[in-house]
Amino acid sequence: MKMQKAWFYEEYGPKEVLKLGDFPIPSPLENQLLVQVYAAALNPIDSKRRMRPIFPSDFPAVPGCDMAGVVIGKGVNVKKFDIGDEVYGNIQDFNSMEKPKQLGTLAQFIVVEENLVARKPKRLSFEEAASLPLAVQTAIEGFKTGDFKKGETMFVVGGAGGVGTLVLQLAKLMFGASYVVSSCSTPKLKFVKQFGADKVVDYTKTKYEDIEEKFDFIYDTVGDCKKSFVVAKKDGAIVDITWPASHERAVYSSLTVCGEILEKLRPYLERGELKAVIDPKGEYDFENVIDAFGYIETGRAWGKVVVTCFPMAPKDRHSTILSEIDTNIPQVNGFAKDLCLK
Ligand SMILES: NC(=O)c1ccc[n+]([C@@H]2O[C@H](COP(=O)([O-])OP(=O)(O)OC[C@H]3O[C@@H](n4cnc5c(N)ncnc54)[C@H](OP(=O)(O)O)[C@@H]3O)[C@@H](O)[C@H]2O)c1
Repeated sequence: MKMQKAWFYEEYGPKEVLKLGDFPIPSPLENQLLVQVYAAALNPIDSKRRMRPIFPSDFPAVPGCDMAGVVIGKGVNVKKFDIGDEVYGNIQDFNSMEKPKQLGTLAQFIVVEENLVARKPKRLSFEEAASLPLAVQTAIEGFKTGDFKKGETMFVVGGAGGVGTLVLQLAKLMFGASYVVSSCSTPKLKFVKQFGADKVVDYTKTKYEDIEEKFDFIYDTVGDCKKSFVVAKKDGAIVDITWPASHERAVYSSLTVCGEILEKLRPYLERGELKAVIDPKGEYDFENVIDAFGYIETGRAWGKVVVTCFPMAPKDRHSTILSEIDTNIPQVNGFAKDLCLK
């Protein structure tokens, strides 16, 4: 059986429970693609589910939801993709799967249902593409959950994070917001302004009560609704993407995981109107995944934290290593009970 390198944990705990080990390369089920991962992105959920059992995970668990890579194998019922296609997506649909996939995206090779991925926009690097799926699916869903209407004004709590930077970009571009204000800390004021906010409020210096304007829509990415609700108009919508929603008026919004959303974004991404935002600190190499988790867990990231330089990912980023691996191996899928360490 061909093996691959993957990061995994066998017990809940801090980032130090993560180890690098060998896993079997899975075979795709009928509706799945086998993808060689070139880049992945971290999300707070990867840390939360490692720290405590919020989903029924099988051990060893490989973390990671987001990835971009190249299709190197496919199941017999796959219709939309071919070997060699460059794809990206969020492979973990926590809401509809009985259990998360055991094999997340911090691995060289993963399997994913074809409906969860989309073709990588040509304009984007693999790293940029990997940074998008979970955060952008979340960002879009929040507008829908709160029934955002064209022309409304909005206040985005936390405009500097992975989700916040995308909510700000989408507000006018896709949803027709008329006026957007966002909050962040002092060092990030300029950073946040560039994503389309008309005004940025330094939350370390200004209390919500001191903001005189009232907004049609509060989009809270931080879970601060206990305080932030005061900037909502009397009948304004308040959406909170943290669980549980942090005020009785706030509605919790959870992402929809699918490739179709990413396909719809393609024109905006190809035209460069919607940009992937990778933390200016840079990308973390595959071997430095623990440092990458340490950074995202500070809660101070600027945009998205991305992992790159997966072992054996080709440097020219267009060839595949299909000839080097044997994809004709016994069925060991992403949920496999028999997924084991060497
Ligand atoms: N419901 C869903 O489907 C869903 C999906 C994705 C994420 N989430 C959740 O949503 C939250 C945000 O996710 P994310 O990926 O955007 O996280 P993230 O990238 O780690 O967010 C970090 C950002 O939060 C900002 N921040 C922290 N406290 C703040 C405050 N009091 N006011 C304003 N900004 C503040 C920080 O900016 P400063 O340094 O300036 O404070 C930092 O830039 C997480 O709790 C995550 O688990 C939910």
